[in-house]
Amino acid sequence: MSLRKVLFMFICSSALFVMIMGEEEKKVVIYTISIRALGELRNIENSYVEHLTSYVRALQKKVDTLQKYLLSVTHENLDSNMSRVQYVANPLNSLALMRRAHEDWPKWLSYIKDQEGIQQLDTLAAQMPNAVDMNEALMGMERIERFYDLRAFDMANGLVAGRHLDTRMLAPECLILADFMYNRSEYTRAAEWYRLAWNNLELPLNPVAREFYRPNPEEVRKRFLISRLHEGSIDQIKEYLDELEQDPSVPLVYLKPKRAATDIERGCRGDFPPPPQLVCRYNHTTTPFLRLAPLKEEEISRDPLIWLYHDVVYDSEIAELTANLTREEMSQGYTDNYTTTEKERIFHVKTFEGSGEKLDRDLVNRMADISGLLAGNHTHLARINYGLGSHFPEHADYSDIKANPELVEEGDRLITFLFYLTDVPLGGATIFPKVNLTIQPKKGSALFWYNIHNDWEPHLLTRHAVCPMIEGNRWILTKSLLAYDQMFVKLCYK
Ligand SMILES: *[C@@H]1O[C@H](CO)[C@@H](O)[C@H](O)[C@H]1NC(C)=O
Ligand SMILES: *[C@@H]1O[C@H](CO)[C@@H](O)[C@H](O)[C@H]1NC(C)=O
Ligand SMILES: *[C@@H]1O[C@H](CO)[C@@H](O)[C@H](O)[C@H]1NC(C)=O
Ligand SMILES: *[C@@H]1O[C@H](CO)[C@@H](O)[C@H](O)[C@H]1NC(C)=O
Ligand SMILES: *[C@@H]1O[C@H](CO)[C@@H](O)[C@H](O)[C@H]1NC(C)=O
Ligand SMILES: *[C@@H]1O[C@H](CO)[C@@H](O)[C@H](O)[C@H]1NC(C)=O
Ligand SMILES: *[C@@H]1O[C@H](CO)[C@@H](O)[C@H](O)[C@H]1NC(C)=O
Repeated sequence: MSLRKVLFMFICSSALFVMIMGEEEKKVVIYTISIRALGELRNIENSYVEHLTSYVRALQKKVDTLQKYLLSVTHENLDSNMSRVQYVANPLNSLALMRRAHEDWPKWLSYIKDQEGIQQLDTLAAQMPNAVDMNEALMGMERIERFYDLRAFDMANGLVAGRHLDTRMLAPECLILADFMYNRSEYTRAAEWYRLAWNNLELPLNPVAREFYRPNPEEVRKRFLISRLHEGSIDQIKEYLDELEQDPSVPLVYLKPKRAATDIERGCRGDFPPPPQLVCRYNHTTTPFLRLAPLKEEEISRDPLIWLYHDVVYDSEIAELTANLTREEMSQGYTDNYTTTEKERIFHVKTFEGSGEKLDRDLVNRMADISGLLAGNHTHLARINYGLGSHFPEHADYSDIKANPELVEEGDRLITFLFYLTDVPLGGATIFPKVNLTIQPKKGSALFWYNIHNDWEPHLLTRHAVCPMIEGNRWILTKSLLAYDQMFVKLCYK
């Protein structure tokens, strides 16, 4: 047995998630799970409004022309006291009638039917989000509410995790979220959202929008009641109806106990104690490069070993990394735990598998400089963009070698590098729930940790997660340094 195989038999893994790309979704864009893509959708919406406006203008012109014409024919030809026979008995009239009927009227019909501009609207409509995408958006909002233990009333009024977003939710949005909660059997939360839809029935204020989008009040009332009855008692219908009329800022009583928070949720809410003040220093000893550009290095955990580096990616590099990525270049990132067919969409990602462009090469070299390890000849850099309420469930970066024998060739993921390319004002923290650690992304900083022990056993405490995004545009750059590349460089780190 070769050395590699022996080493690998020690690597086992209890649970993992792996990122894979879905080709099938390249054509059907899922906008929700990437802020970059949502920005594109916003462009599409703007174009739609522009086209609709010019279509309406053209339509208006047509209506004016038609009206003028009809007025004239009424006066000239039809508004006469002559009987029909009297009219056609005159050959001049007959000829005029013939010509009009043969030439003019068909023309008017094709004039009406010619809907210039409709085609562009069709094209844009084809790019609108599908039902799967809509569902992703609702999942994101549900996650934001659940992970951060927010009150529906506050969310609807734009008060999210202590921050005023200066926006309110309208009745149709409250209603669709209520239906979503209801479908997940979250009846108290559904009832809260139905009550908000009920209270916001007069929003939007625009009367036309209200006419088109306003939920049916009776339907909202009915669904509110049914939600209450799922967990309550039929004898209390009157009380439930009173609840509907109550001030919505008074929370509804949970008729079934609310589920306790998970470790991850506690971490996301900021309930972990602040990280211990370990070592913070300028490190310029690792490689010759660092003697020229010392690193601001912060050790934030000893076991597992986790370091935070400040100011390691330049703004110009960040601009280049995050700009100009087209829809075709980004792929869908999923989690996959190999045991279920259910895959979860988590973000949009662009990876470099080859030797990479210059910037990627520079960054990989920087990772090698920071760690003193070998970055290997493949960049395998992933640029990742999160979306509305998107998160990364708890997972480990080490691999399950039994499930993934193809990884034997390269070795396990010894180290993970995670470069934060943007600040995230709210949400989107990286958390290590097993060691009570929460790290909020800070533009230009990088996180670095060992996934496996010296004996290359998985380090179970390195399991980590990304909290649901609330506000901001979370871009990261990540890469794993593989174990075999380090065979003769870094066998031990302690
Ligand atoms: C995979 O997902 C299923 C269903 O959510 C879960 O029961 C199982 O524990 C997961 N397996 C791993 C290895 O995480
Ligand atoms: C048609 O007859 C009515 C009354 O019978 C009259 O008031 C009107 O002026 C006539 N119209 C024309 C175009 O002769
Ligand atoms: C809830 O479930 C119903 C029935 O399956 C479905 O028609 C509806 O679209 C779902 N609504 C939401 C918001 O998920
Ligand atoms: C994005 O692409 C445009 C056009 O190709 C180019 O001029 C611009 O410099 C690019 N921006 C970045 C940050 O790379
Ligand atoms: C610098 O970092 C390396 C590992 O990356 C570490 O071995 C070394 O002790 C650090 N130097 C100082 C002065 O902390
Ligand atoms: C990787 O790159 C190094 C130095 O550039 C080279 O010596 C080595 O042969 C390369 N290895 C492979 C597998 O391409
Ligand atoms: C994490 O926090 C919990 C509760 O605050 C505590 O019981 C536990 O010991 C902590 N774990 C670590 C590794 O610090």
